Amino acid sequence: MNILLIGSGGREHALAWKLAQSPLLGNLYAAPGNPGVADHAELVALDLADHAAVVTFCEAKRIGLIVIGPEAPLVDGLADSLRGAGFSVFGPSRAAAQLEGSKGFTKDLCARANIPTAGYVRAKSEAEAREALARFGAPVVIKADGLAAGKGVVVAMTMDEAEEAVTDMFGGQFGSAGAEVVVEEFLTGEEASFFALTDGATIVPFASAQDHKRVGDGDTGPNTGGMGAYSPARVLTPELEAETIAKIVAPTVKTMADEGTPYSGVLYAGLMLTAEGPKLIEYNCRFGDPECQVLMMRLESDLVELLLACADSRLSSIEPPRFSADPALTVVMAAEGYPATPKKGGRIDRIPAAEATGAKVFHAGTTLGMDGTLSASGGRVLNVTARGKTVRAARDAAYAAVDTIEFPEGFCRRDIGQKEIDRETARGED
Ligand code: AMP
Ligand code: GLY
Repeated sequence: MNILLIGSGGREHALAWKLAQSPLLGNLYAAPGNPGVADHAELVALDLADHAAVVTFCEAKRIGLIVIGPEAPLVDGLADSLRGAGFSVFGPSRAAAQLEGSKGFTKDLCARANIPTAGYVRAKSEAEAREALARFGAPVVIKADGLAAGKGVVVAMTMDEAEEAVTDMFGGQFGSAGAEVVVEEFLTGEEASFFALTDGATIVPFASAQDHKRVGDGDTGPNTGGMGAYSPARVLTPELEAETIAKIVAPTVKTMADEGTPYSGVLYAGLMLTAEGPKLIEYNCRFGDPECQVLMMRLESDLVELLLACADSRLSSIEPPRFSADPALTVVMAAEGYPATPKKGGRIDRIPAAEATGAKVFHAGTTLGMDGTLSASGGRVLNVTARGKTVRAARDAAYAAVDTIEFPEGFCRRDIGQKEIDRETARGED
């Protein structure tokens, strides 16, 4: 079967790497892909906003499955256009992608379906937002309603910070994404990410992970798209996972179906494990980046079979996915200046030497020059990923590979997985 993969990040390199392991795969095409994806796929230049052009390409290449990696084309309705033309698509419709595309939509759905989440107010004006701030008091969380590349959330520890966030958002800091904001109760606990495949009816757990959102060691500095991750997140115990499915994921999938907008694809639940149980922080309508990289390192089942069954509403008829018991961990190497102003053009060498240690180096923001040299072209540049018997072993293997790579204008966090490694030590597991 020929497959078209949409996207260009480390997530898409990990998906391409795993799709390429399937005996079901014919030709793999990627739009636009990146130099790492190019190891497994033919890169094609398609204007993703031009849905008719994407449909024409899929017809010409006899594409049997389209896998949409990032949220923007999903929220833009690319899956609807392709399904409308008769193709099998992995990824939700525009209406279902609202679960990520509008934070207010998701909060209202939680209210209707009685799903545990932080108390909230949707505010369409600065005055409404200020009224809500006064009601909640600090600390408080302010979120731009729409897509803001992971940057539209301010956790304000003081009222001054909260007022400033409201002024900035209504002042156009995030463009139209901030025309409406959600003001939210501050939750405390540990965060974990839970993934499920669903075709709108059947729900199949797809492992857990923990991300590291802040740019600096010890969770300091500004939020990023994610500086590293590991899987599984053992804080999400089997009991808490069952509670998450029963109280959060299942009512979401049921409500979406009942309301005529069934959700099909991977549902990524960002959770806060509070003293009262798991609460939903947010949904994403796609695999996480870099969480996907660690999920793919652990997945033992055929990814093509799984994604196709999801796309064709046949999840109930296939074997559930199998994951290695061994944890996987990924370290993001970013360009100096990330997340504010990442420096472009930094030269990267010795990836083959790093991979010779047994790690896998996924490309996120790289370009290949005419002379064959690889350089940085984005904020997050490489995802150095490894597996081990313990998180500590996976961490040591990933950092050994990181230290083999020459990328003088790059940096990474040095403490990915540390919290879990401390727990392993406490359990006497390492
Ligand atoms: P989001 O983009 O919604 O995942 O939010 C980014 C980060 O902000 C999350 O990973 C949390 O660390 C934090 N956050 C979001 N909502 C809350 C909340 N209600 N209480 C505490 N922290 C939050
Ligand atoms: N790593 C967080 C995300 O993909 O949203």
